[in-house]
Amino acid sequence: MARKLAFINYKGGVGKTSLIVNVAACLARMGHRVLLCDFDTQSNASIWLLKLDRWNPINATGEGAVFSIFEPGRHRVCDLIVRDVVLDKAGGHPLPGLDLLPTSFNLVDLESEYAGDPRRPAYVIFQEQLSEVESDYDFILFDCPPNILRASQCGVFSANEIYVPANPDALSLIGFTLLIEKLGRFQQLSASFRRSSMGPAAQVYGVIFNAIKTGVDIEVPKMRMQLRLNQFKAAKRTAKEARILDSFVRDAMVVRRAVALGLPVNLLGQEAAGDNVVRDYERVAEELIRNPPLPA
Ligand SMILES: Nc1ncnc2c1ncn2[C@@H]1O[C@H](COP(=O)(O)OP(=O)(O)O)[C@@H](O)[C@H]1O
Ligand SMILES: [Mg+2]
Repeated sequence: MARKLAFINYKGGVGKTSLIVNVAACLARMGHRVLLCDFDTQSNASIWLLKLDRWNPINATGEGAVFSIFEPGRHRVCDLIVRDVVLDKAGGHPLPGLDLLPTSFNLVDLESEYAGDPRRPAYVIFQEQLSEVESDYDFILFDCPPNILRASQCGVFSANEIYVPANPDALSLIGFTLLIEKLGRFQQLSASFRRSSMGPAAQVYGVIFNAIKTGVDIEVPKMRMQLRLNQFKAAKRTAKEARILDSFVRDAMVVRRAVALGLPVNLLGQEAAGDNVVRDYERVAEELIRNPPLPA
């Protein structure tokens, strides 16, 4: 069964998308079959991996974007997945095994204009369709916006594990706290729609520090995050295994450059050669594979 992980924090700009795209790319390079589902209305992961020339037509028509499973409802998740999404200049597939469920800006209409059927919330429609393709994957990753509104709910409802990207600052801590509150509320509201085949409702398993500047000591912010995590764990509001991952991602120019080039950092070749940030993402991917710790 695929492991299903959502990356979410109530704080924007902490590096959720950079982390999920690069970790997905590392997992694919290790030989895992990975589906990245973009549920951020800003479409950053889709624009990054498809580049504008392939994303613009999707955005202009809505054809091929995830919102089309809700409205007009003619498409299904299995029809929308872009297989081996990364293309090189020659049109080859340098990263087989990394697939994308793309989104476009019209996903924002899910929040207000989409009426739907209250007996079948959007997240149920999505989860049912996702289950048709789950056996094709080892990892299904959900990039979520900094909220748990309807688009994000699709990822959170389908996922079993949540990872919280964070910067070493007070705002990331506030974002984490807000996430725990809203997550609890959503899990209550959606509980009656869960089926046992979906596995347990998503809980926070880990916090991942991102964009750590060289020479900056993160011991104090890490300790504050650890204290907060301990409180939530004691109150059973996270998984009992939840912890701050040992691996973190440093701040590196090449991460921003990768977006402009439409490639994950591990495919930048010469440009990223010798850059330790590639290794950082690999370490996070390796730790996620081991996490949650297997029972002895
Ligand atoms: N490790 C990093 N080093 C340098 N810049 C980063 C790093 N991670 C993210 N960024 C940059 O920070 C900004 C926000 O990152 P992004 O992944 O879009 O965050 P979010 O998805 O949480 O909004 C982007 O410009 C991105 O390129
Ligand atoms: Mg993002």
